[in-house]
Amino acid sequence: MTLRQGVDATGTEAAGLDNVIEVGGLRQRYGDFEAVRGVSFTVPRGEIFALLGTNGAGKTTTMEVLEGFTPATDGTVRVLGLDPIRHRRELRLRVGIMLQEGGFLGDLTVAETVDLWKGLSEDGGRPVTLSGTTTLPGSFNLMGRVRGVDRRTMGALELVGLESKARTKVRQLSGGQKRKLDLALAVLSAPEVLFLDEPTTGMDPEARRTTWKVIENLRAGGTTVLLTTHYLEEAERLASRLAIMHEGRIHTYGTVEEVVAGSGDTVAFRLAGVTWSFGDLPSLDGTVPTLTYAGGGTEVTYTLTGGRAEARAHAALRPLLKWADERGETLERLAVRRGTLEDAFMRVVGEVR
Ligand SMILES: Nc1ncnc2c1ncn2[C@@H]1O[C@H](COP(=O)(O)OP(=O)(O)O)[C@@H](O)[C@H]1O
Ligand SMILES: [Mg+2]
Repeated sequence: MTLRQGVDATGTEAAGLDNVIEVGGLRQRYGDFEAVRGVSFTVPRGEIFALLGTNGAGKTTTMEVLEGFTPATDGTVRVLGLDPIRHRRELRLRVGIMLQEGGFLGDLTVAETVDLWKGLSEDGGRPVTLSGTTTLPGSFNLMGRVRGVDRRTMGALELVGLESKARTKVRQLSGGQKRKLDLALAVLSAPEVLFLDEPTTGMDPEARRTTWKVIENLRAGGTTVLLTTHYLEEAERLASRLAIMHEGRIHTYGTVEEVVAGSGDTVAFRLAGVTWSFGDLPSLDGTVPTLTYAGGGTEVTYTLTGGRAEARAHAALRPLLKWADERGETLERLAVRRGTLEDAFMRVVGEVR
């Protein structure tokens, strides 16, 4: 890991295992509405942490507090051990931000946008973003900028696979290409911490994979990443730990394995005939199955959540096969399926409703 300006080698950087992001009891109100209702999590250095959740769960709001755009109503947040509002200036040099809604100046080319951003981020003033409310410093003369593309700009564009678009006007980019440009801007200053709010929304599957590689490479280089996403596959692929949020609260939190283990395993099969009812079937691990009748048969599904995740399907199968043998029945198309992140997600949303 390279030491960066302003980082004490004997301090946070050398400690290695410290939490780069700390959120404790965070609450955030908008008028009468409480968008974030007591959220706590930590992200150790060099990890990728994913915030998943329904629309309006409070993911972007949580990010905005960490980014220092808005003070927390209650609770504590620390980024690199610093208060995002009080130490905004220092954090600006060490943090990269990709907002959910990037806003660009459509008449600029891709390269000009990166150059403009570089100029702004080196300006030393308050945090600037290119989102809807951007105000450009009066002294910044766009027209006077050189049309050529310098190495650092090109490097950032190559990183995200946008080099062939350097001279394309931003308004002519697709949604996914604009997201790539957002990412190029976020990583331009080689940040220690990256906040990525829905980084791959609007991308085709190929662009998404390219972006995952970029994020993985940054992590391999020591960058700590907090991301939000609606793509469960993305969280599974990238995140060492994740949280599932719903209506301002975190409902599940842990490694992908831990979260998935809580979602339960499914044992499913089909029995000939449509005369079966609950009472005829064994309960497995205290669980009764759901039955659906179709095409002259009965589809039986058990969802097992008890015991150790590693052993629960094994434990369930013996009594089930014994039951079938005793009755001379065949468990047609017997299948055991491990729980998925999607199951965990749906469980959170389902339980709360
Ligand atoms: N500036 C605001 N004023 C009032 N309500 C807001 C504001 N920003 C967000 N909200 C509300 O807060 C909730 C959480 O929003 P947000 O953090 O954007 O959710 P997510 O990113 O998880 O979809 C939503 O109900 C949203 O409508
Ligand atoms: Mg959001």
